[in-house]
Amino acid sequence: MIKDLIIKSRSCRRFHQDVAVSTEILRELIELARLSPSAGNYQPLKYILSNKPDANSKIFPCLAWAGYLKDWPGPDEGERPAAYIVMLGDTRITNKFLCNHGVAAQSILLGAVEKGLGGCIIASLNLEKLRENLSIPSYFEILQVLALGKPKETVVIEEIASDGDIKYWRDQNGTHHVPKRPLNDLIIR
Ligand SMILES: Cc1cc2nc3c(=O)[nH]c(=O)nc-3n(C[C@H](O)[C@H](O)[C@H](O)COP(=O)(O)O)c2cc1C
Repeated sequence: MIKDLIIKSRSCRRFHQDVAVSTEILRELIELARLSPSAGNYQPLKYILSNKPDANSKIFPCLAWAGYLKDWPGPDEGERPAAYIVMLGDTRITNKFLCNHGVAAQSILLGAVEKGLGGCIIASLNLEKLRENLSIPSYFEILQVLALGKPKETVVIEEIASDGDIKYWRDQNGTHHVPKRPLNDLIIR
């Protein structure tokens, strides 16, 4: 059921770093993005796949994790993503990427969950450092990074509290809680 898959597809930020994500699996996930909608059918998204410790170590320091968890700087060594997909916009095709990368990311993340993996969209990036570390040519716009791996954390959805606070939090057991607004608050008519 699509709803079950979407409920399961929570942003995951702690992983079993030693469980590899193969290049074949990453390619299968990009295939899902390839088949997804694209504005004007320009298909300007390009991808850098990374699943080796050396390459991964060039990406990790460029990412900002879970802004609301002020005391948590991001996953420790051993709990970091086993793979990344760096999503790029090819400005030689168009410079209007609109929501293409959001659509593609959701296809990839749902596919990842179906395969027993988890992931997180990271858009808060040190763009300069990432471009330099990966030698990304200037005609690519860096759009976002997907962090992927075998999940090592539990993430649950909560009804939003009456104070309306949308900040996610982690309890004493390490479970990550994500408040979602109720359906009736979203549909205005
Ligand atoms: C466009 C976009 C950008 C995001 N950027 C980051 C990010 O830079 N760092 C991070 O830790 N999470 C990031 N997230 C994950 C959100 O924090 C997460 O989706 C939100 O807390 C709700 O949790 P859920 O995905 O489990 O529903 C991003 C999500 C989206 C859709």
